[in-house]
Amino acid sequence: MSGKLASDYSAWKKLQQTYDVEHTRLILKDLFAQDPARFSKFSSEYVDSTDPNTTFLLDYSKNLITKPILDSLLSLAREAQVETYRDKMFAGEHINTSEDRAVLHVALRNFDDFKIQEGGVDEVAGVLAHIKEFSEAIRSGSWKGYTGKTINTIVNIGIGGSDLGPVMVTEALKPYAKRDLTAHFVSNIDGTHIAETLRECDPERTLFIIASKTFTTQETITNAESARDWFLSSAKDKAHVAKHFVALSTNTKAVTAFGIDQANMFQFWDWVGGRYSLWSAIGLSIALYIGYDNFESLLKGAHGMDKHFKETPLENNLPVLLAVIGVWYNDFYGSQTHALLPYDQYLHKFADYFQQGDMESNGKFVTKGGQRVDYQTGPIIWGAAGTNGQHSFYQLVHQGTKLIPADFIAPATTHNPIANSKHHRILLSNYFAQPEALAFGKTEEEVRKELGSGASEALVKSKVFEGNRPSNSIMFPLLTPRTLGALIALYEHKIFTQGVIWGINSFDQMGVELGKVLAKNILSQLEKPADVTGHDSSTTGLIHYYQKYRKE
Ligand code: F6P
Repeated sequence: MSGKLASDYSAWKKLQQTYDVEHTRLILKDLFAQDPARFSKFSSEYVDSTDPNTTFLLDYSKNLITKPILDSLLSLAREAQVETYRDKMFAGEHINTSEDRAVLHVALRNFDDFKIQEGGVDEVAGVLAHIKEFSEAIRSGSWKGYTGKTINTIVNIGIGGSDLGPVMVTEALKPYAKRDLTAHFVSNIDGTHIAETLRECDPERTLFIIASKTFTTQETITNAESARDWFLSSAKDKAHVAKHFVALSTNTKAVTAFGIDQANMFQFWDWVGGRYSLWSAIGLSIALYIGYDNFESLLKGAHGMDKHFKETPLENNLPVLLAVIGVWYNDFYGSQTHALLPYDQYLHKFADYFQQGDMESNGKFVTKGGQRVDYQTGPIIWGAAGTNGQHSFYQLVHQGTKLIPADFIAPATTHNPIANSKHHRILLSNYFAQPEALAFGKTEEEVRKELGSGASEALVKSKVFEGNRPSNSIMFPLLTPRTLGALIALYEHKIFTQGVIWGINSFDQMGVELGKVLAKNILSQLEKPADVTGHDSSTTGLIHYYQKYRKE
């Protein structure tokens, strides 16, 4: 990221030549046949340096790579100065250049290993202590609502990074949850979201967590105001708000103006990006739901991966390997998307979470230096929990015209063994089978043999699986808080590495601004048709149609 475009690097040029000359010869079936040791050469077991139980296997052997290609990809990472930028991040340098901010989610889970100089870093432990004390008070029942009853429902009101992380993690770690505490998450400005949620809440026993880094986000503040109105319609006295509303924010002034006691505000800092904030005060709902000790284990798991990322040579560095293999498909094979496919129902929000994590970070067409890139940057991230996806979109993944690299993720052991049944074995048989089918397919010859001589040509062709579709497989013993922390950090650092290679700023999100500004202007024009000015005929026509039919 030295003012150059990634496509100027000599390693990039070499990779382009390699792709042009070799890609038709990169056939997974042949690569595996030629080298019986391919799996051991292209897989690695991660073990947390302080906890051997936090471990996972990354198998990247089913990728369209050879050792020389991987070496070139790693040379690209070196040429882009991934190591230098990684060290700058950990040192607290302001690598978010457009906003002149440090990028220090790693400081939120730093159990004293890295020395980081930045204002606020020394306050992290105090905020964690506050989260611990508060979550224990709610969970033990010592914190009482305005009528003296305990809290049995929490409602996190936030959006984007102030919602997706807590939603994903509370779903993923449900086995560790306090089951008599119900957690709701309200994000959408659509009034249906808050209205339907409030129908399930008792004002005397509900805690609202207003999660917003800026405390200015329209959706969150509007939902929070509606929640406060709903609460006060029962509680009457504004003094009771203190027992039922807390805020997670960097903006003390706006929090107190809303009416939330500063003592009930959980602080974080501008060096925590929204999509990297579940480790901060934004994780309060997680701590409430699974308990502080489990929340801390999640942080420790991420810290272990931070150490791995910071200290491991690139050739064995798992986030870096995932990143460069992703670049190979994204920039040389022309893949548009990357699928995240967890074979674990508890991870059903994993792809949603990394949709923001990856696409808001790396969906940029301008480099840090302001140059327009002449290559693809961040992929479209999508996916769903297996095996559901198999019965919807896998058809296209197997036989469509697009190359869709995918990560298959699964636990060896389930939290829910069901007596006298083979649920988990069946699930895992699918987890093993899908990457195998994608990689090795089924030839025309095999189809003909199977169908016999009477089969029509069309039927034969329709049953061929070309194969050679790449994937990574990740497997771990059990989905624990610590393992989940490591997995999330694995992907965070993958995103970081790709952003450095592409020369973009992965830590701002200018692309969300324009729509917000236009919506504000349109909101002021919605009252009467005569107010609707300054738009194209399509936008004007749509607004006029709405004005004709609205009933509110
Ligand atoms: O969508 C833009 C964004 O700024 C995200 O980056 C962020 O996670 C989300 O809005 C919510 O922001 P806040 O926490 O400030 O309400």
